[in-house]
Amino acid sequence: MSILFTPINLGDVQIKNRFMHSATYEVMSLETGEVSDKLVKRYQNLAKGEVGLIIPGYMFVHPLGRCAKYQTGIHSDDMIPGLRRLVKAVHQEGGKIAFQLVHAGRQTTKAMIGQTPIGPSSKGRDPINFVKPKEMSADEIQEVIQAFGKAASRAVEAGADGIQLHAAHGYLINQFISPFFNHRKDEWGGSDANRFRLLKELISEVRNALPQGMPILVKLNTHDYTPQEGITPSLAVTYARWLSDLKINGLEISCGAGVYSFMNMCRGDVPVKEVVQSLPFWKKPLAKLMMKRMVGKYDFDEPYNLEAAKMIKPVLGKTPLFVVGGFRKVAHMKEALEKQYADCISMCRPFIREPFIVKRIKEGKAEGVACVSCNRCFAAVANNMPVQCYNKGFPAP
Ligand SMILES: Cc1cc2nc3c(=O)[nH]c(=O)nc-3n(C[C@H](O)[C@H](O)[C@H](O)COP(=O)(O)O)c2cc1C
Ligand code: SF4
Repeated sequence: MSILFTPINLGDVQIKNRFMHSATYEVMSLETGEVSDKLVKRYQNLAKGEVGLIIPGYMFVHPLGRCAKYQTGIHSDDMIPGLRRLVKAVHQEGGKIAFQLVHAGRQTTKAMIGQTPIGPSSKGRDPINFVKPKEMSADEIQEVIQAFGKAASRAVEAGADGIQLHAAHGYLINQFISPFFNHRKDEWGGSDANRFRLLKELISEVRNALPQGMPILVKLNTHDYTPQEGITPSLAVTYARWLSDLKINGLEISCGAGVYSFMNMCRGDVPVKEVVQSLPFWKKPLAKLMMKRMVGKYDFDEPYNLEAAKMIKPVLGKTPLFVVGGFRKVAHMKEALEKQYADCISMCRPFIREPFIVKRIKEGKAEGVACVSCNRCFAAVANNMPVQCYNKGFPAP
């Protein structure tokens, strides 16, 4: 049997193969944050397609940590019935599901949350939303820690198989652990160990909320690609070692920070026209100019976080490593596992185009995925359109 179809244990949960659906914002929940039938259907299909572990799109743990209009919420008990339906649909098809918990921090807007976004420090104004955040007080940090703990309890109530802390892509946890965003001089900043403190506290809080053996995963950047130094591969190695010492049950590695370097996160074509379409008229000229400059700079032949994986894997001990970003050929997937660069293959865009691709690979019917990384699905999400493959056409405004 192919190495891709050997089971793996995360905590006490057995995953039937080495494929993970990486968290994907779907634009499918209700404006209240509640799960919709459409969302349930999406994940039912992926479970039918035999994806080993499914992580749906990021779920906000606190109203101030929300960053998208149709994002799923896990910030209140009212969300639990919908989340339960989602879990049940996946379980009925024999799948496993873990929830990705997020707080956006400064990577949201006043229009979205009703007040100035918060972050570790107030320094800088981001280049897309022009947000200058408010520095969080010690009490606000404690409130966020508690919000993650309560969200984890709701994940348990809903029957989820695990949780993943979103520490990547420029959101709040990433902001705390990055020297680019975090300029604090108190116990939450000033050194790598202090910047890491929030993530450490969150793991402890969430662990208290979960039953013994329920896995805690973390999604971490190995490179932020921010204008000044943020997380670099060598800092990521240090953090990976500390995460392994904290006995997390799996680490997924990625790169890129939403408003500063989103094309690093989703490499491939730069969908200039499609992204610009959604912007207010006054933002269009500058955005078009900025995006045109990016064209041709994010092409890839091989999984683009694999080099980082080779550095991270040796310090992880027994903690399983998931690598996301650019897996398109079955030969590359097998090689990554056979050479022990990683333990699991994580994918996002390939599943948008082909929810049944794992089953097809298992049956020997596919040597690669059909996704061509045109990034139109990514642009669609920015336009508040439900995620699907738009490679063959993108709706006009
Ligand atoms: C439409 C879309 C939505 C995404 N939503 C999330 C998300 O909610 N959480 C997250 O951690 N990453 C998100 N990502 C990033 C993916 O999980 C993944 O890291 C990235 O697409 C690279 O993997 P791929 O080459 O397999 O697509 C999203 C990507 C896309 C294209
Ligand atoms: S629109 Fe389709 S082909 Fe293009 S990146 Fe998304 S899933 Fe892949």
